[in-house]
Amino acid sequence: MFDDPQSPAWKPLLEAAWAARDRAHAPYSRFQVGAALLTAAGQVVAGCNVENAAYPVGLCAERGAVSAAVAQGMTPGGLVAAVVVTDAERLTPPCGACRQVLAEFAEDLPILLANRQTRQLHRLADLLPHGFSGRNLQSGG
Ligand code: THU
Repeated sequence: MFDDPQSPAWKPLLEAAWAARDRAHAPYSRFQVGAALLTAAGQVVAGCNVENAAYPVGLCAERGAVSAAVAQGMTPGGLVAAVVVTDAERLTPPCGACRQVLAEFAEDLPILLANRQTRQLHRLADLLPHGFSGRNLQSGG
């Protein structure tokens, strides 16, 4: 299902991500990003980037979506699939910080990148190889 970028299963996630992208607060970069997550409970949770006049405190769409999903009950292991959309010609992959945050909630994760013309499917394990996790903390300092 989520191993096929053309699967109809992506449709609700794409719709939610595009709707969120239209609400992005990105007056500084003018780069609007939408993200949507599917949780194990079947919820579709969206996020958009929220920039700030104090540039470094701006938030990416993916991390906004994760925060909203956690508030709705998502727990580690409860993240099933993710979508990231922009209007940019070059597809937009999650930044390094967002990869790390997504990895907290999914061992591996299909991530669909899309713009108006095309889509491309990636896996978090490929985007964040050898990531740091709670397992590292358990093995002592
Ligand atoms: N951005 C995201 O929201 N997600 C990404 O995957 C890449 C970058 C945002 C951050 C900032 O508001 C704008 O895009 C330009 O970097």
